[in-house]
Amino acid sequence: MDIEDKFAIIAGGASGIGQATALALAQLGAQVAILDLNEALAKETAKACQGKYFVCDITSDVSLQSAIQNALSYFKSPVKIAINCAGIAPAKRLVGKTGPCPLDFFQSVINVNLVGTYNVMRLVAESMCQSEPDSSGERGVIINTASIAAYDGQIGQTAYAASKGGVVALTLPAARELGPFGVRVMTIAPGLIDTPLLQALPAEVKSTLKETIPYPKRFGKPKEYASLAIEIIKNPLLNGEVIRLDGALRMT
Ligand code: NAI
Repeated sequence: MDIEDKFAIIAGGASGIGQATALALAQLGAQVAILDLNEALAKETAKACQGKYFVCDITSDVSLQSAIQNALSYFKSPVKIAINCAGIAPAKRLVGKTGPCPLDFFQSVINVNLVGTYNVMRLVAESMCQSEPDSSGERGVIINTASIAAYDGQIGQTAYAASKGGVVALTLPAARELGPFGVRVMTIAPGLIDTPLLQALPAEVKSTLKETIPYPKRFGKPKEYASLAIEIIKNPLLNGEVIRLDGALRMT
């Protein structure tokens, strides 16, 4: 799909991977809407993209519906590109020093990373499916963000890995369902990308992690995710697949 002039929603676009993707899409002429909980950062990013921000919580039906409705009214155009980057990555052992992991910890991670992703997908897909197709029959592209933790999660990542495994699993059935409407669904599973989420880790953990990456031996750059997202949008044959973006890292 051509990117110029297309209306793109970036959920979690205020920071990190989503922010880099929003900026890259804006540079290619997309009309960018940043949907995020963090108003201050969303405002800054939207300004840099010459776009618009809509504060919302992707886990809430009402909050997300209202943000998407407001974005549709503002841009006066159906959603053509949706990038799902909102997510959290807290860690907790199943059984810790003070007893079993609180159930609401597990539920909150699933709620943001999996239910939130689904919430964005269902609402943007409605707008895409009702829109006019381009000359090749294409109506939209949805890109989700999983993680390599979906395949090789670490101790303490049961909730995070389960949430990202869910995102991996829904990719193919969603692509099969939306294919007849000319809407593609892809997922990127990043390894270690240098964003505020990764920067929150202790320094020694970061340096140990870096050593385990075969090549290149460094954290990924948010713009490298953006570059893959752009290729996915442009290449109509990419559909229903999960692409690892990890420098061959397999976490031990
Ligand atoms: P980040 O923390 O820089 O950005 C995440 C954004 O999501 C923030 O702007 C935050 O406000 C927003 N957000 C969180 N919960 C939200 C909610 N309920 N509603 C609306 N917005 C919400 O993190 P980063 O690193 O850019 O992560 C983006 C995605 O990439 C996440 O899904 C993360 O799990 C995934 N990922 C990141 C990796 C990394 O190494 N940075 C590795 C693998 C996956």
